[in-house]
Amino acid sequence: MRILNLYAGVGGNRRLWPGHHQVTAVEYDPTIAAAYADLYPDDEVITGDAHEYLLHHHDEFDFIWSSPPCQTHSRMRYHLGSAKGFEPKYPDMSLYEEIVLLRAKRQERPWVIENVLPWYEPLIPARQLNRHLYWSNFELSDAPKQVEKLRKAQIPDLQELHGIDLSKYRIPNKRQVLRNMVPPCVGLSILNDAENHMSSLATAGLS
Ligand SMILES: C[S@@+](CC[C@H](N)C(=O)[O-])C[C@H]1O[C@@H](n2cnc3c(N)ncnc32)[C@H](O)[C@@H]1O
Repeated sequence: MRILNLYAGVGGNRRLWPGHHQVTAVEYDPTIAAAYADLYPDDEVITGDAHEYLLHHHDEFDFIWSSPPCQTHSRMRYHLGSAKGFEPKYPDMSLYEEIVLLRAKRQERPWVIENVLPWYEPLIPARQLNRHLYWSNFELSDAPKQVEKLRKAQIPDLQELHGIDLSKYRIPNKRQVLRNMVPPCVGLSILNDAENHMSSLATAGLS
């Protein structure tokens, strides 16, 4: 499959994807993009704006995964914000812009958008798997349960949990990058669901 992996980070969702897929990743932080390119040398890595890229290229891939930034949706920031007096922030609507675009433009071929559990009622209903919400146009299996004690977990705990070693990369705020990762087992489970969806489209003569 040709896969578009938007807001790639260090590729938690992509970590267990088999090597025969052709993956294009988009990440705008050059340091994180460089680490991703080193971790997944066969992927094409574009250092740029994922939101803009999706608008112009949504038709060129068999499967699209998008993980837009979660800070303005996150319960943790909202509650910490109230306690610590952070300035309030509007939820970043680019999350919903992408869902609306993909719903309209990709009714058949699979896509999934991932984000955290928001501090408000989600504006479009989604499926919850562990600590994330997923919007998709295909059925998602129950993901393997994973207990992530994110508040207390330090870099070594998170690296062990996700099976990744970032020690050689000079990434600022490495702990946050690790906390942002989708559990690799969930990324694989969703890719398998997308492949099954593609097979059923092919059987029905729709792909
Ligand atoms: C939630 S993290 C991605 C997690 C990733 N899916 C994983 O499982 O490891 C979001 C990433 O998007 C990047 N990012 C934020 N805004 C972006 C934009 N407009 N274009 C591309 N990347 C962006 C951030 O630097 C961050 O690495």
